[in-house]
Amino acid sequence: QTALVLAMLFMSLTTAVSVPSDQIFQYIEEHQDEYVQRLKDWVAIESDSTDPEKRHLVINMMLLAEERIRKLGGTVEMVDLDMQELPNGNKISLPPVILANIVKDPKKPTVCFYGHMDVQPAKIEDGWSTEPYILTEKNGNLYGRGASDDKGQVLAVLNAIEALQKHELPVNVKILLEGMEEVGSIGLNTLVKQRNSTFFSDVDYIVVTDSAWLSNKPGITYGTRGICYFFIECAKRDLHSGSFGGILHEAMNDLIFLLDTLVDSSGHILIPGIYEAVAPLTEKEKKLYEGIEYDLDQIMAKYGLEEFRNKTKEELLMQRSRYPSLSIHGIEGAFSAPGAKTVIPAKVTGKFSIRLVPNMEPSVVEKQVTDYLNKKFTELNSPNSIKVASDTGSKPWLSDINEPQYLAARKAIKRVFGKEADMIRAGGTIPIATHFQEVTRKSIMLLGIGGPDDASHGQDEKISRYNFIEGTKLYAAFLQELATV
Ligand SMILES: *[C@@H]1O[C@H](CO)[C@@H](O)[C@H](O)[C@H]1NC(C)=O
Ligand SMILES: *[C@@H]1O[C@H](CO)[C@@H](O)[C@H](O)[C@H]1NC(C)=O
Ligand SMILES: [Zn+2]
Repeated sequence: QTALVLAMLFMSLTTAVSVPSDQIFQYIEEHQDEYVQRLKDWVAIESDSTDPEKRHLVINMMLLAEERIRKLGGTVEMVDLDMQELPNGNKISLPPVILANIVKDPKKPTVCFYGHMDVQPAKIEDGWSTEPYILTEKNGNLYGRGASDDKGQVLAVLNAIEALQKHELPVNVKILLEGMEEVGSIGLNTLVKQRNSTFFSDVDYIVVTDSAWLSNKPGITYGTRGICYFFIECAKRDLHSGSFGGILHEAMNDLIFLLDTLVDSSGHILIPGIYEAVAPLTEKEKKLYEGIEYDLDQIMAKYGLEEFRNKTKEELLMQRSRYPSLSIHGIEGAFSAPGAKTVIPAKVTGKFSIRLVPNMEPSVVEKQVTDYLNKKFTELNSPNSIKVASDTGSKPWLSDINEPQYLAARKAIKRVFGKEADMIRAGGTIPIATHFQEVTRKSIMLLGIGGPDDASHGQDEKISRYNFIEGTKLYAAFLQELATV
């Protein structure tokens, strides 16, 4: 009985000291203008990683982030990567990667936040209403390139840490920031492998802060689809249709025939075996889609769409995230300019991709597709040749929503927003999540604070002040909850 009383006393004490969240939330509210000013300073740097001419600005941005982390008392390592080789053969420096470490108490869990400091290109001529690199507040939104993707999200994490430090940072925090995300995270995979047994060895959780909600309701992303990208090359000599049309097998006809054998009119993929590996739907999983806030009419209105193949929210979300899909993207070598040229192209390459879901394996899918196309081509009896090739695929990623950090994030969302979190599986592919998972074998979660309409790669990118500030509270609450799960 004494033990019970002591345990209860201990529990009440620990809850009392470890959750002064009102004070922390209040601190965050009181400092919001300062946070917005910091975001303004960050957005002002045109850290466009796609343009080699702007590489020094990406590097400047990394230095600015380093300075902010040092103010939190962290130790920061600026890791130099190899040079980047440009298509013209020139080599230029890659921006350093930040590996930071705040507080070290081996008894506490360690969470590593990942984010990126580079942005997509933006020019006012592209159709922006305001200067993309001057953070501008209008109607509760903060407009600027990188405001949501990903500077605002990273800054919210750093601001949350700072607010917690006024009392106590309840867990160990590591931070990994890169500057080449928008061009495929060049050099990062190698670095993660190299540091697996050092920087990552004591990391318990990895949180990717580079994602958006499906609605104004906060969400956690626990899965993404993978991808396999295919090329079918059909070849023949270049000829004129007047002299040769109708008397030869044309490469383009072969290709169109093959492309037309891939999916039926309902979107069902016709490649034998492709659905075999797809993880069966469980009742538990089905329930998760019901709770998600997602207004189909609103989405259709926003994108000017007439209808979706799938009529209910649940069916659409499932179709987009837990089943494979096939899309045809283009034909290289085909005549595509305006006008009526009568050439018969000698060689055309059709391009398509398949989004993969658990438990589809890229290598298996590649074989299924290649075998099927070769078989269909044989049926065509064409004297031409085909070559099927594929890019190295990216595997799908799926986490267990009952891992401790997911429980902590769900509790934190409840506390800050008074709502249950939307549990989201993204239809797209986020290779970094798969890569972290495959190399480090740690628990991975995507906890972003972007809004559903932030236009992260488009014109008028923004983050709302609400998402930025409440998101800061969310990260603070998450770190507190993580100490108790
Ligand atoms: C979505 O619609 C397509 C076409 O009607 C159908 O084949 C598919 O099964 C639907 N997906 C789900 C998850 O119901
Ligand atoms: C990375 O380290 C973890 C232990 O922290 C281990 O489980 C995993 O296999 C390692 N990965 C590689 C690629 O060696
Ligand atoms: Zn991003």
